Amino acid sequence: MSTHLNRHGRSTSDHRIIKYFRWLLWISLSLYFLSSYLITHSTKSTSLFKTTMKHNSVVSHALLDAATNTSSTQPSISSGLGGLKIYVYDLPSKFNIDWLSNERCSNHLFAAEVAIHRALVSSAVRTLDPWEADFFFVPVYVSCNFSTVNGFPAIGHARPLLASAVELVSSAMPFWNRSQGSDHVFVASHDYGACFHAMEDVAIADGIPEFLKKSIILQTFGVNYKHRCQDVENVLIPPYISPVKLQSMLGVAGATTNERDIWVFFRGKMEVNPKNISGRFYSKRVRTDIWRQFNDNPKFYLRRHRFDGYQSEIARSVFCLCPLGWAPWSPRLVESVALGCVPVIIADGIRLPFPTTVRWSEISLTVPESDVGNLDDILEHVAATNLSIIQRNLRDPSKTRALMFNDQLQRGDATWQVLNALSQKLNRSHSNKSQ
Ligand SMILES: *[C@@H]1O[C@H](CO)[C@@H](O)[C@H](O)[C@H]1NC(C)=O
Ligand SMILES: *[C@@H]1O[C@H](CO)[C@@H](O)[C@H](O)[C@H]1NC(C)=O
Ligand SMILES: *[C@@H]1O[C@H](CO)[C@@H](O)[C@H](O)[C@H]1NC(C)=O
Ligand SMILES: *[C@@H]1O[C@H](CO)[C@@H](O)[C@H](O)[C@H]1NC(C)=O
Ligand SMILES: *[C@@H]1O[C@H](CO)[C@@H](O)[C@H](O)[C@H]1NC(C)=O
Ligand SMILES: *[C@@H]1O[C@H](CO)[C@@H](O)[C@H](O)[C@H]1NC(C)=O
Repeated sequence: MSTHLNRHGRSTSDHRIIKYFRWLLWISLSLYFLSSYLITHSTKSTSLFKTTMKHNSVVSHALLDAATNTSSTQPSISSGLGGLKIYVYDLPSKFNIDWLSNERCSNHLFAAEVAIHRALVSSAVRTLDPWEADFFFVPVYVSCNFSTVNGFPAIGHARPLLASAVELVSSAMPFWNRSQGSDHVFVASHDYGACFHAMEDVAIADGIPEFLKKSIILQTFGVNYKHRCQDVENVLIPPYISPVKLQSMLGVAGATTNERDIWVFFRGKMEVNPKNISGRFYSKRVRTDIWRQFNDNPKFYLRRHRFDGYQSEIARSVFCLCPLGWAPWSPRLVESVALGCVPVIIADGIRLPFPTTVRWSEISLTVPESDVGNLDDILEHVAATNLSIIQRNLRDPSKTRALMFNDQLQRGDATWQVLNALSQKLNRSHSNKSQ
C-alpha cells in the first residue's frame, strides 16, 4: 500500500471549510440549547442531529428513526453499564457519512468505525446534553478511502482528517480543552491502529499523532508487549464481520454444521517466496512455512486464492488456522468463532479483544510461530484429548455475541463490550462517577 502523508499545512480552502463548519456547529449548538430549553427533557430533541444531516437521505433517516426509537426500548442496556453517558459529536458529513456512498464502507473488515457510531447514536447510552456526558465519541471514518488500484483502504488522509475534526470540536465546544481530549474516544480499526499506517516500520517511525496521545483509542491492533502504536489508552476491539452476511451463511449451513468434512482450513494470502520488504517478510514467513509443509497433506485444505464463499468453508471445518499477516490479528478469528471452527492462533504476542468475556483459551488453540512445522501432530493430540471440550465451549452464544457489532446496540455485543470497558475508565472522565 502506498500511503503517504501530507504532514504539513492544510490548504486554504480547508481553512475556509473549517471556518464555515465552526459557524454551522455554533448555530446547531445554539439551536440545540434553545430547543432543549423549550422542549422538556422527556422528549429528547434530535435537532442538533437534523441540522447538519438534512442533506443526507437514506442513512441519516435510518439513523434518525433509530435515534428517536430507543430510550423506551433499551433501558436495560444502559442500566448494566453504571449509568454511562456518551455524547456523540455531530460532525459535518464529510467526516463520516459521506463515505457511505461506497457500500463497502459499512461492511468491510475495518467497518467497526461505522458500526460503533451507528450503535451509539441509536442507543440509550447516548446523551444529547454534552454537560452530562462521561465520554465524547468523535465519529471520523478513516478506513473507507478505498484505493482504485488495489481496493485496499488508503489511510494517508487519516491524520489530516482527524486533525481537522479535533480542531473543529476543540474550537466549537469547550469539552476537548477541558480534558485535553482524555475523555474523547476515537476508532482506529486498521493495522497498527493509532499510528495510522499499514506497514509496521513506517507506523512505528510516524508514531501516534500528538493530538491523539491523551485520548482513548478503540483499535483492532494489539500486542502483549510494549509497542509504540499502542502506547495510548486503548480498548481492543474485534474486526468487523457483517452479522447479516453471517446470518445468511448460518441459514444455509445451519443444519449441516455438525458435519465438518474439512480437518484443517486456511484460505488467504500465502506467498510461496515472500519478498523482503524493508527487512520484513509477509507473515514473518509463517504462512509460507504452512503452505510448503502441508500443501500435500490431504488433511489440510489450504487455498491461496480469493473466494467470496469462504465462510461456508469455515462452517465445514474443524480447525481454522489464524496465522498473522502483516499484523497479528485477522478477521478469521471472529469468523471461526461465529461458525464453530476452532481458531488455531499463530501470532506470537497477540492481544485479543474482550478477554474476560470471551476467555480465548477456552475456545481456541495457540501455537507458537516456531511450532508450525508440527501443526499436524499438535492438532491430532488435541483431537485425542480435549477437542470436544473446546467445541462445546465454542457453542456458547455469548462468545460470538461479544465479537459481533450490530447497528442497534444489543446487550453483550461488541459495542456493549466497548461501553463496558469505558465504564471501567470513568475515572478519566470529567464527571468522574467512579469517585
Ligand atoms: C423501533 O422499536 C421497535 C420495537 O423494539 C422495533 O421493532 C423497530 O424495528 C424499531 N425501529 C427502528 C427504526 O429501529
Ligand atoms: C483518499 O486517498 C488518496 C490517496 O491516499 C488521497 O489522495 C485523497 O486525498 C484521499 N481522499 C480524501 C477525501 O481524503
Ligand atoms: C481550545 O484551545 C485552543 C488552543 O489553545 C483554542 O484555539 C480554542 O479556541 C479553545 N477552544 C475553546 C472552545 O475555547
Ligand atoms: C532484507 O533486506 C534488508 C534490506 O532491506 C537486509 O538488510 C536484510 O539482510 C534482508 N534480510 C534477508 C533475510 O534477506
Ligand atoms: C487443550 O489441550 C491443549 C494441549 O494439547 C492445551 O494447550 C489447551 O489449553 C487445552 N484447551 C482446553 C480448553 O482444555
Ligand atoms: C483509573 O483507574 C485505573 C484502575 O482502576 C488506574 O489504573 C488508572 O491509572 C486511573 N486513571 C486515572 C486518570 O486516575
